[in-house]
Amino acid sequence: MENNSQYARKDYWDERFKTETNFEWIASFDAFQALILPLLKPEFRILHIGCGSSDLSVRLYEMGFENITNVDYSEVLINSMKLSHPEMTWVVDDIRSLSSLDPESYDVVIEKATIEALLVNEKSPWCPSDEALKMLDSVFDAAQRVLKSNGTFVSISFTQPHFRVPALLRSEDWEVEVQEFGETFHYFFYTCKLGKCSSDEIKLRYSTIASDWLRVV
Ligand SMILES: C[S@@+](CC[C@H](N)C(=O)[O-])C[C@H]1O[C@@H](n2cnc3c(N)ncnc32)[C@H](O)[C@@H]1O
Repeated sequence: MENNSQYARKDYWDERFKTETNFEWIASFDAFQALILPLLKPEFRILHIGCGSSDLSVRLYEMGFENITNVDYSEVLINSMKLSHPEMTWVVDDIRSLSSLDPESYDVVIEKATIEALLVNEKSPWCPSDEALKMLDSVFDAAQRVLKSNGTFVSISFTQPHFRVPALLRSEDWEVEVQEFGETFHYFFYTCKLGKCSSDEIKLRYSTIASDWLRVV
């Protein structure tokens, strides 16, 4: 029987993308465009990690942001997207390493619902496993390596701030901010600006709640 643990398996995604050409996890572009557009300039190099079959990159491209690289570890997806959207760059890579991408080469890295997929086997959001903490560090390290020194990491998520902010605060090299969106079910738009420090207020507030996400492994 299928359960959520399938979302952490590459073979599941490969099978799914044999037929799926568009599916939007969490929220559609329209729901958060007012939050993302102020962070972008047409000349920016944008990297969308764990892109899936979301139309986020297509929508940005249509608005004039034409320098977009999309990464997913499913070759099935990337091969099909290369054919349907040759106007953008499509790369097979793991978001925990991004080893095929050059350092300091993107202005913005965007992640939507993929960290959630990688955390799907966690037993409790209050007590992250060592594997979960290592995974987060590897995703954030990889994003920071490919970002330019003043670049921005965006995470769009359904995870509540008291679990996600401490996770993002594992890195002291960026300034974490939270915005909320959605009309009935609420989602969160996390902005992390490299080369800046998070405010004492956010550090104090979130280092006492679900502080296991800050635990060093
Ligand atoms: C829940 S879907 C989200 C897709 C898209 N971001 C969206 O919001 O609709 C997760 C996607 O991340 C990809 N993925 C999962 N783990 C990955 C990893 N370690 N490296 C690269 N891609 C991964 C899957 O193949 C899938 O396309």
